[in-house]
Amino acid sequence: MTRLDRRVLLKGSAALAGAFALGGGLAATRSLAQPTPLQLKAAPAKAQLGPDGAMSDILTYSADGIVADAPAIIRMQRGQPFAARLINGLSEPTTVHWHGLRIPNAMDGVPELTQPYVYPGDGFDYAFTPPDAGTFWYHPHCNTLSQMGHGLAGMIIVEDPADPVFDAELPLLLRDWRLGKDGAFLSDFKPRDAAKGGTYGTVRTANWKREPSYALPAGGLVRLRIATVDVTRLYTLGIEGAEAVIVALDSNPLPLPVALDRLDLGPGQRVDLVLRMPDSEGTTVALKNLRGSSPFTIASFTATGASLKRSISDVPALAPNPIAMPDLSAATRIPLLLSATAEHAATPSICGSLGYTFWAINRIPWPGDTPDPIAPTAELTLGKSYILEITNRTPHAHPIHLHGLSFHVLSASKHERLPPPTDTILLQPDEQAELALVADNPGDWVFHCHIIEHQKTGMTGYFRVT
Ligand code: C2O
Ligand code: CU
Repeated sequence: MTRLDRRVLLKGSAALAGAFALGGGLAATRSLAQPTPLQLKAAPAKAQLGPDGAMSDILTYSADGIVADAPAIIRMQRGQPFAARLINGLSEPTTVHWHGLRIPNAMDGVPELTQPYVYPGDGFDYAFTPPDAGTFWYHPHCNTLSQMGHGLAGMIIVEDPADPVFDAELPLLLRDWRLGKDGAFLSDFKPRDAAKGGTYGTVRTANWKREPSYALPAGGLVRLRIATVDVTRLYTLGIEGAEAVIVALDSNPLPLPVALDRLDLGPGQRVDLVLRMPDSEGTTVALKNLRGSSPFTIASFTATGASLKRSISDVPALAPNPIAMPDLSAATRIPLLLSATAEHAATPSICGSLGYTFWAINRIPWPGDTPDPIAPTAELTLGKSYILEITNRTPHAHPIHLHGLSFHVLSASKHERLPPPTDTILLQPDEQAELALVADNPGDWVFHCHIIEHQKTGMTGYFRVT
């Protein structure tokens, strides 16, 4: 078979665009030149999530008035201005954080630190130009455990004109919901679990559906854009019934596609897989979570139509994002120690304290999303290089996420393969890692564990870049 060039893929995908317009969400593509702000409304909605058909009162984002019982997918173009007006239709303050996007600090969505609270009925205008292409997501940064837990999360796809075009593309947002049998939400968390791995949901979904099934082109190459947006669950992803390669992790391309075996992903992380669908119509493929003692199927895919006869070895590498290379010889080292802390009641904070402290960074537990603004964890000089020496001295894994800056993983003691540059590193118990970055984006940049109960019970800090 010939090299799968961009034109062949484009043709294939145009023919299939109608049949495989996928995503289970709404796609809002913004115009390039003068962006009309996307109307992004956070509001209550109903969704059928429970096993017995019971309806649940969830929170959802709607884009330009389209309310779906599925995550809203926002498309942006790399290097092109984007604008959105957040409209708060909730009964409490909220904000939007654009997870993974390296944008100006004032657009980062952290209340008190980077912007005021957006009160019920009010709005906030976000406007920025995404510098990187890839798969990102967005969520509130206010009363986060409750707001995300009840449904506020969506995907961002930043497209690049140079992106290869595949036969189909499928966004998948993976998460659980803490629901009782009647479809009503259970308490957001249990303190005893927050002090361990976090509190799990009871209903597991992809795109807000239990084990959904998608028709995909037989023999075709399909880009799966997967974001794990649960507040707690760690996934070990695997594909059964087809070959797949990893092309990007946390929005950043691998230098060459790597065959997928099992991949650990923590809350907040993303992977772009290219799946080669089986040739014969009707064959199904399963996306699995292989973690733990009871693996489960997350979603399944059924081969449809005559085989397109693609080859997985023709999947091209994606173009890298322009992330600065740190000057290691001149870099300043910053030690960061993650530990459990003596349990005590946290200082109340209006934007969602859970009322407990279980975790600390450099022995200081933060009470919430909004640490004292005069005391950053470290002050960084704009343009200088840094190496974060991070140590996880706990028996739990922690996906540590940094806002506004991407870092290079120089070493990670429990990683078999080092990931490409990223905004989130999943640290295993007792793992040590060295993360290098150029402090090239000024502002106050929060970093925290993305197991939200850990974030909200102490495992939060921020860097001030001036
Ligand atoms: Cu997904 Cu503080 O972020
Ligand atoms: Cu954690």
